[in-house]
Amino acid sequence: MSTRQPSNPFSSTNYQGPDYFCNRTEETSRLLNNIINGNSTTIISVRRIGKTGLIQHVFNQLPRGWRGIYIDILETETLNQFLNILATGILNAVPEKSSIGRKFWETIKSLRPVITFDTLTGEPKASFDLKHRESETNINALLQFLEKQEFRVLIAIDEFQQIMHYPEKNTDAWLRSRIQQLKNVVFIFSGSQQHLMSDLFASPKRPFFRSTQMLKLEKIKSGVYCDFIVNMFNKYHKEISKEIATDVLYWTNTHTFYVQQLCNRVFAATEKKVNPESWRQQAFMLLQEQETVFFTYRNMLTPPQWHLLKAIASEGKVFMPTSASFINKYGLGSSATVLRSLKTLNDFELIYTEFDLNGEKYYSVYDVFFQRWIEGK
Ligand SMILES: Nc1ncnc2c1ncn2[C@@H]1O[C@H](COP(=O)(O)OP(=O)(O)OP(=O)(O)O)[C@@H](O)[C@H]1O
Ligand SMILES: [Mg+2]
Repeated sequence: MSTRQPSNPFSSTNYQGPDYFCNRTEETSRLLNNIINGNSTTIISVRRIGKTGLIQHVFNQLPRGWRGIYIDILETETLNQFLNILATGILNAVPEKSSIGRKFWETIKSLRPVITFDTLTGEPKASFDLKHRESETNINALLQFLEKQEFRVLIAIDEFQQIMHYPEKNTDAWLRSRIQQLKNVVFIFSGSQQHLMSDLFASPKRPFFRSTQMLKLEKIKSGVYCDFIVNMFNKYHKEISKEIATDVLYWTNTHTFYVQQLCNRVFAATEKKVNPESWRQQAFMLLQEQETVFFTYRNMLTPPQWHLLKAIASEGKVFMPTSASFINKYGLGSSATVLRSLKTLNDFELIYTEFDLNGEKYYSVYDVFFQRWIEGK
């Protein structure tokens, strides 16, 4: 990773290194502890909280003698594509020129993939074109090969829920049985579709049930995030007061991605000092830019679904969506209609369910900007 100072300390697209990463000390040490002790971990959380960032942060701090292989399988649709991504991940983790690299590359080449190089980044890419069983055999061969290395291996599979969409049956059962035999390789599983991830790891019917430690990633505490924001501005000789940083966090519901995005804007638009009008103006501009997206939501929904989405956005948190008071307040029809709409909105990932500190379940909209936009209407 480059050690140059990024032009903006707040990124909403990628990990910029430990100096630009807020907190997560406890989660990081839990993960590192699991890794060192040979335990795999599953990270679950609502979307855009910082799972991928946390994985990268952990990779950055892997102890000596460990190597990390990160793969994101969101784009894969078959086991064969999974194999391609895994092999590519391995190639990228170990450069061909290094002494162990040569052995790695030979092993992978012996499986006869087509290896190409990205024209922009120069990074290698392996691609196999195989039938189902052959994919299984080759994935197994790669895992066995990693098992035999002198260094220990961490494989992080992001967007893991994707394996449930493969046409091959019981991929999770097969993978679980392979993984179980490995002693030198530890895994992190993470995924953005929480309901599928929970189904994979927390359902007694599933092969992965109880096979990993679960790490539930919560929002970063507001006070900690506030200090981080203030410090980042200071680091670049700019200024934001604690009060304004707290307002920004409140407005973005302390939801990492949205905090980062708004802070990125406010930082870019600030010469020396943030004032209460300037950050609000940036927030307003963000909402304006997103309007087309919000209208897309409306177009893909039926009127009852759209009204329910708006009602949840207006409330922020809804504990009893089928209660008469909520339905009447927003004219949502019958409770059966609401239940059906809830399911669709959940499937579209426009809303999510969470539990508050008292263990009570509530519904919220995912897109914090959408929530603020609705409030302003
Ligand atoms: N603790 C943190 N401090 C600063 N920035 C962070 C932190 N955690 C995450 N980010 C940044 O916030 C953005 C969104 O986080 P990230 O992509 O990790 O979320 P995610 O939970 O993986 O999202 P998704 O569910 O969509 O996969 C990224 O740019 C990431 O680098
Ligand atoms: Mg992610």
